[in-house]
Amino acid sequence: MTELKDVRTSRMISAYDLRRATEAAARAAYAWIGRGDKSQGDSAAISALESELANLGLDARILIGEGPREETSQLYHGQRFGDPGRLVRWDIAVDPVEGTSFLAKGMTNALACLAIAPTGTLFAPGPAFYMEKFAAPPAAKGRIDPDAPVEDKLKALSDILAKPVEDLTIYVLEKPRHRDLVERIHALGARVALYPAGDVAGALMAAIPGSGIDALMGTGGCPEGMLSAAAIKVMGGEFMARIDPQLATERRAVEAAGIDQQRWWKVDELVRSDDVVFCATGITTGLLLEGIERTATHERTQTLLVGGGADERQLLTSWHRRAK
Ligand code: FBP
Repeated sequence: MTELKDVRTSRMISAYDLRRATEAAARAAYAWIGRGDKSQGDSAAISALESELANLGLDARILIGEGPREETSQLYHGQRFGDPGRLVRWDIAVDPVEGTSFLAKGMTNALACLAIAPTGTLFAPGPAFYMEKFAAPPAAKGRIDPDAPVEDKLKALSDILAKPVEDLTIYVLEKPRHRDLVERIHALGARVALYPAGDVAGALMAAIPGSGIDALMGTGGCPEGMLSAAAIKVMGGEFMARIDPQLATERRAVEAAGIDQQRWWKVDELVRSDDVVFCATGITTGLLLEGIERTATHERTQTLLVGGGADERQLLTSWHRRAK
């Protein structure tokens, strides 16, 4: 990774340093697993991630964070890290807890994630909150028409993966808006893995050949979409997205901003650099990652680190000594 350095000390920062931010967020959220409270766990993770980012000393800003400055004081859009007198070199997308309901309910699949890319190279979804997404393994990249009907997409995927349609498993968020999508996938004979939340894990699993998930389809959050796009860009998989507002206020804002709601953005348009690092740390054990395990003396974390070095992705297990 080029020029990723601490502006105060000029120390080069490696992708390994970035993972400390999601590990800190996940460890902070741990105390809130299964306590029925989404916001306290989220706040703890936000504070931990923010302070680790501040410690890194990068010339960076939050591009996709917890919301506009008027609505949040931490990890807000445009929040600056490093020396404000210097050029911003990096844009950051964060989701300190992806799956806040999983965390509050003590369910599987909560994780903390972050992506970093050179300034101006990540697509900014503006006032949009929702996007329709399609993710699939690398073999499908550029070979599936995003405008094609669901049935045609799945038949194309089946040919590309040399797998009968009945053997395909499609990850879909279990939402009323996806009723028709799920019926059509079932009518074709394919399987649906229905999850109440968490489409970052779904998208990444879809992009990993042999993971048991062959594609992700349906509409979810833009921040989660951009985090998925960053990881999948490096992993070489397929990811496409189209702004798809679900709320009346959001629709009005998207229209006022002149955003084309029909246009599908390809992964290389969503992320216009190869110099990207993505990391995700498990909070509760899920499809993608193991969650935190605590002993009397240590906390064990598992982190997926994508990009930033010679290797495409690494799965890192770390033991952190617990504070006395
Ligand atoms: P939270 O962590 O904010 O609860 O988001 C989880 C999530 O399921 C994402 O994975 C997904 O992109 C988004 O919410 C979908 O939003 P909604 O639940 O409003 O349909």
